[in-house]
Amino acid sequence: MPRIYIETYGCQMNVSDSELMLGVLGREGYVRTEDPAEADVLLVNTCAVRDHAEQRVLGRMGELKRYKQPGRVLGVVGCMAQRLGPKLLERVPQVDLVIGPDGYRGLPELIARARDGGERAAEVEFKEWEHYEDVPAVRDNAASGGGGAFVTVQRGCDYRCTFCIVPMTRGPERSRKLADVVGEVTRLAANGTTEVTLLGQTVNSYHDGEHDFADVLRAVGRGAVDGIRRLRFTSPYPTDFTERVLRAMAETPAVCEHVHLPVQSGSSRTLKRMLRRYDRARYLEVVAALRQAVPGIALSTDIIVGFPGETEADFQETLSLVEEVQFDDAFTFKYSVREGTPAVKISDHVDPEVQTERMGRLVALVRRVVRQRNIGLVGTTHEVLVERPARRGDLLQCRTRTNKIALAQGPAEWIGTYRQVRFTGTTGSTFTAWPLEQPAWA
Ligand code: SAH
Ligand code: F3S
Repeated sequence: MPRIYIETYGCQMNVSDSELMLGVLGREGYVRTEDPAEADVLLVNTCAVRDHAEQRVLGRMGELKRYKQPGRVLGVVGCMAQRLGPKLLERVPQVDLVIGPDGYRGLPELIARARDGGERAAEVEFKEWEHYEDVPAVRDNAASGGGGAFVTVQRGCDYRCTFCIVPMTRGPERSRKLADVVGEVTRLAANGTTEVTLLGQTVNSYHDGEHDFADVLRAVGRGAVDGIRRLRFTSPYPTDFTERVLRAMAETPAVCEHVHLPVQSGSSRTLKRMLRRYDRARYLEVVAALRQAVPGIALSTDIIVGFPGETEADFQETLSLVEEVQFDDAFTFKYSVREGTPAVKISDHVDPEVQTERMGRLVALVRRVVRQRNIGLVGTTHEVLVERPARRGDLLQCRTRTNKIALAQGPAEWIGTYRQVRFTGTTGSTFTAWPLEQPAWA
């Protein structure tokens, strides 16, 4: 049987796409291997969101090319493949295939042509109808955690945030049919999946022509699919939380009390230049609406530091927004110039040293805010899904509905089950926890 080795970089949608590729190749008899040395086909699923992500992949290609012996095929897939296309074939001579996010259906044929005829190819056409509906994704439990699965409900992006390469790498937005989403989740549930994370670039703007995101939440999280105990989604766009979606979140028991709500900046002036569709006040309204609809909801965010034209005053607004919202977590990024995006044309770029200095202050503030919130949670009890063995010691890594990570002692058989724990301490970001005596339901 031919062996496929695949390495995944970037976001959860890439993890989900890698599962699709394993499905496409699984149908052809391929089995997965974790060892690149024994692989017949090596794929690297890439990210293009920041230059740093691309540099890492280029470095990794330098290492992987030694496995590229005669008869073996090396491919670069994903967003960086889409962005660079044939240029990547020129740049890395060992690469046979360059395939973008809509081209994975063609993998078996392109692999065969590369192997048998030495043909090198770049397949970077967008296909607006592509949802890989018939492909039986091969779930990667190590990536999504015990009992959990990613389900892509929307591909591409029609928004035009000026810093972002994603619309150019993932193409036009399209939503899967609700019935297909429910079908997939039903099959997952039948195989023991209890937690589902719905994926899309602006996932709450989902619309299949008939149904909106509220319909998806209700269909997947209550009634239609038995056995789905936790429902998450990422990433929503702040202004796409309609009343209907908020109500569906509040009324659907499986929907978890956590939302990742990328803000990017706390300055209305910067948000405007980013072409985000809200200002600071509107974002704060969305935060308030979410907190009202779902009491106790945890909020995390993405923040970009040093966007072109960002002044110290703008940056102060970002700091004060972090204080004001009291996020549970925040991912912080230095602005990275992406060729072909509108922001490239904004002239007053922020010096790298200033970016670094602002980043330092932001990270320190985020740590303090998150720590304060988490200290307040020590002593509280939570339902957790036991996901996997912890990296260190004989502990288990568990996750609350609010997306907090706790380490607890327990037998390996608990993995994939739900337990009640009490938080006994915090490192500032994660918790130690004590399992309670209650019997498990799972
Ligand atoms: N649709 C997704 C965004 C995908 S990109 C969402 O709304 O969550 C993931 C994150 O990367 C963004 O939220 C942003 O904070 C960051 N990012 C995107 N482009 C960037 C750039 N050019 N420089 C730095 N960070 C960027
Ligand atoms: Fe990027 Fe904005 Fe879409 S961040 S993925 S263009 S919503």
